[in-house]
Order: sequence, then C-alpha cells, then structure tokens
Amino acid sequence: MRLDFKNRLLEAARTFGTPLYAYDWQTIATQLERLQTAFGSAKIFYAMKANPNLGIIKRLNALGVGFEAVSGGELERAILAGATGQQIVMNGPGKLNADYTRASEVGARIILDNADEAPRAARYAPKIDTLIRVNPGLKVSTHDHLATGNASSKFGVSLADVPTAVLNAEKAGLNVIGLQMHIGSSIEDPNDYVEALERMAGLAKHIGAREVFDMGGGFGLQFNLEPLATLGHQAAHAFGAEQLWIEPGRWLVAESGVLLTEVLEKKKTARAFAVVDSGMSELMRPMLYGAVHPMENLSASRESVTLDIAGAACESGDILGKDVQLSDPNIGDILCISVAGAYGASMASNYLTRPRPAEVLLENNAWVVLRRRETVAEILQAEHA
Ligand code: LLP
Repeated sequence: MRLDFKNRLLEAARTFGTPLYAYDWQTIATQLERLQTAFGSAKIFYAMKANPNLGIIKRLNALGVGFEAVSGGELERAILAGATGQQIVMNGPGKLNADYTRASEVGARIILDNADEAPRAARYAPKIDTLIRVNPGLKVSTHDHLATGNASSKFGVSLADVPTAVLNAEKAGLNVIGLQMHIGSSIEDPNDYVEALERMAGLAKHIGAREVFDMGGGFGLQFNLEPLATLGHQAAHAFGAEQLWIEPGRWLVAESGVLLTEVLEKKKTARAFAVVDSGMSELMRPMLYGAVHPMENLSASRESVTLDIAGAACESGDILGKDVQLSDPNIGDILCISVAGAYGASMASNYLTRPRPAEVLLENNAWVVLRRRETVAEILQAEHA
C-alpha cells in the first residue's frame, strides 16, 4: 500500500465514518500503466463488476479504457461514464432481450456465450458485431467458484462446438469478429493461460481469420504480465487478428482499495475475537471464497495478538479473517482490511438491513466522496407494508 495513502486513512475514517471503502487513485493509475506497458496495443475493456463506481469508471474512461458489461445496469454505467459503443463489450450467459436491444442502440459489441444464442441475439440486435466465448476445457488454478474455463462450468462454447457456433451466428446475420475466452478470476498459475491460449489458437484453422482476439481477465496480482502479453499477441496473430482485447477487473483496482472498520467488541469463546462494524454484508469474499485479506490495526502499535475478526451477523461464517495477527486492538480502534478495491463494495449487500458503506477516493492528496453512505430510509423506501 502506498504510504501517503495509508497515512491518510485514519483521517478518512474520522471524516466519513466506518465502515468505509477508501481507494487510492494513484494505485489504479499505476496498475493501468503496468498493463499498458506490458500489453502495448491491446484494447482494455475493464470488467466493471470488480468495482463499478461511476467515479472510478469515469476516470478510467478518460484515460481511454473501455468496459466489459454483464448486465443492463452495467451497460448504463458504461454509457454514463462516457464510453462510446466501440468501447463497450456486453457479455454473460443470460442476457435479457432488452440488453441486446440497448447494446445494439449504442453500437456495443456482444459476446455470445452459447452456440444457440444467435437467433435471439439477432432478433433484438440485428447484424451486431459479435465474439464467441470459448470454454477451453482446462483445469484452472483458482477457487472452484472462480474457475470458468473448466469443461464443466456454465460458461462459453466447448472447443468442438465453436465452428457450429460461428456458423449459427453468421446464419443469423451476425458479424463474428472474433473469439473470446475468460478462464477465471484470481488465477494462481500463469501456465493456465499458456494452455488456454494454445487451445484457442488451434481454432484458427477451423474458423479462419478474424479481426479480434479477446483473452479475458483473471490475471493474478503477482503475475509478471510481459510473458502473458506475448502469448496473447501470439494467439491473436494465429487468427490474423489486428486487435488483442483484454478484460482485467481485479488487476486494476484490487490493491487500490481498503475497507476501514471500527472495533466494537472484544470477546472470547473457545477462540478470541474482535467484533467489528463490517462483516459479510460489507465484504463477502472471505465467507464466499475463503479469501484472505491482510488486516492491520491503524490506531495503535501494541503487542501483537492473534484473533479472529468477526462481523455482527447472526451467522457463524461471518468471519472476515481467521487467526489474524495484529496490534492488540482496543474498542474504538480502526482496522484496515486491504486488497479490497475489487469485488468489495460491488458485492456489498443490504443483508440485515445494513446500509452499504460510503466510498471515497484519494486523488491529488484530497478525499473525494464517490458514493455517500446509504441510509436505512433508502433501503426501506422501495417496500410496501
Ligand atoms: N471477463 C469476464 C468475462 C469475467 O467474467 C470476469 C470476472 C472478468 C473479465 C474479470 O476478472 P478479474 O480480472 O477481475 O479476475 N467475485 C469474485 C470474482 C468474480 C469474477 C467474475 N468474472 C471475487 O470476489 O473474487
């Protein structure tokens, strides 16, 4: 974490309250530069599901970044962020009729996830530029919930069915500009991409030359991007494709963000706990994927203790961190939960009628509020007694 950012976090917690998502623009900008340096001419379609906050996507778009959208709502966000149609690619295994229509209206491209999807797509988005999502049928090195390129996942078209999918799309009058893959998120072993890209390149002899090759996202934060980029460009080359597309989400934003939370209680059962004012409704990842987020006590430097950091929900699984070593927290201390810029706020919910946290961004040394804290009244407003 950038020290200048870290040094401002207690002030942010005091000013805006907790739980609070705080992001560092400089970290996002640096991650973007690293991508651009490694991938050169590739087009970046940020997978906004990682963090769709308008303030973030507007800033990214101002730097030329396009978007991958997987719902009508995300499509509207991309448009609001200033993206042109060519900067948007609409993806997902269950698109609504209205999604095709809107994608067509704004001139976005779509990714077909199914060999039989074309007729419905063509009815609502005639002649739209299309990519086919391919499932390369690998064993992918990540949590089961995050692996999408394995043969049994619900995603994409199996290798053997790709020629049929292309034919079906062309018969329906769609323009198949290329193929796409996305093998999963938080991929641990870069060799998964070597294997996947080889399999993809092998399809060139079956479907011929195409303009675009899209290698998806999922890049592990520890990856050396240069060899990955070379492989991506080689796969694009196999199709004679002028454009390599990438769809990073986590890579761009994960390390830019923290969740700040206040210690409410300390207690002991058979284990020792600090109970904090965040939990599974603010940050789902530990409970859903067993994700480990680094944590530290920002308020004080005391002797180090080992504790579980627990949320307030009436569920035993609502633990943000197990066996966390940190400076012995007092009630009222502020803990910092790191690497929370991706799939943190975007997956926060109103479970237990908890308002979603505020989100703030440190930009040019000043805090900008990107989303104010939700209120209970707002949550209740949509309901009828
Ligand atoms: N492209 C497609 C088609 C995707 O489905 C995804 C993520 C991405 C790109 C971006 O993947 P990334 O670069 O962010 O790994 N909620 C989970 C992650 C789910 C990812 C879903 N798809 C988590 O908290 O880890």
